[in-house]
Amino acid sequence: MQSITEIKSLRSQIKAWRQAGLSIAFVPTMGNLHQGHFSLVEKAKTLADKVVVSIFVNPMQFGANEDLDNYPRTLNEDKQGLAELNTDIVFTPTVDTIYPNGLGEQSFVDVPGVSLGYCGGTRPGHFKGVATVVTKLFNLVQPDYACFGEKDFQQLQVIKTMVRDLSIPIEIVGVPTMREVTGLAMSSRNGYLTSDQKHAATTLFNTLKTCVDKIKAGDNDFVRLCNEAKSTLQQAGLEPDYFEIAQRDTLKAATLNDKQFVILAAAYLGTVRLIDNMQVVI
Ligand code: PAF
Repeated sequence: MQSITEIKSLRSQIKAWRQAGLSIAFVPTMGNLHQGHFSLVEKAKTLADKVVVSIFVNPMQFGANEDLDNYPRTLNEDKQGLAELNTDIVFTPTVDTIYPNGLGEQSFVDVPGVSLGYCGGTRPGHFKGVATVVTKLFNLVQPDYACFGEKDFQQLQVIKTMVRDLSIPIEIVGVPTMREVTGLAMSSRNGYLTSDQKHAATTLFNTLKTCVDKIKAGDNDFVRLCNEAKSTLQQAGLEPDYFEIAQRDTLKAATLNDKQFVILAAAYLGTVRLIDNMQVVI
């Protein structure tokens, strides 16, 4: 595995691969890699000749009071895991490499519609930061495919919309959420949880699952279903941020005419913010 930090070296390797007619799949990450990330790398390997993974904790997508400074950084372990999977390149740029003029003067990409509400409502500017860094990384790596986890379902829809709106010639591939045996969605932020909190966190999964089952059984009182789910979360010691049923592809509020839904949820456990989602087709 090549470990690259400089744009020039990255570009020259990408150019050589392109000249040799090789295809490239890309997995952007913020590091602290777990089984969920590794499943993205495994998927990427099935799609293309070469796999590039980036590790970059992107300051532009963190709000002022969020966990940028404390975000878990485990570069050595991450590289070891990626090398074991025969990743071709791990790209680990510094903040100065990605934002040489600082964030104040940085051009940006803002995706309307799907960026609004849910995590976009609670974390203003978050998806602008995500869309901007992903655009930069796409331009650096120039992959044929890019893999994103379905756990961050709104992020996946933002990237799909961005690629379509801006005619970016990359196929975006969503990869199903990896879960602990308890159902808890794997996340770098789970490392912040105590074992008691981890137990309580599984209520998020169970509540989503109950809601899926009720919709499948024909219950379409979406407002009541969401209110019931929020009470269940509160009883388990979680503070719901949102719990909403949306149209799967547009993320607009679900209507009685819809057949494909996604239930999107975020809740605080102490200071840790957990997110998860489940799709339902009726
Ligand atoms: O999902 C993430 O880890 C990040 O939002 C991403 C896509 C790597 C952009 O920084």
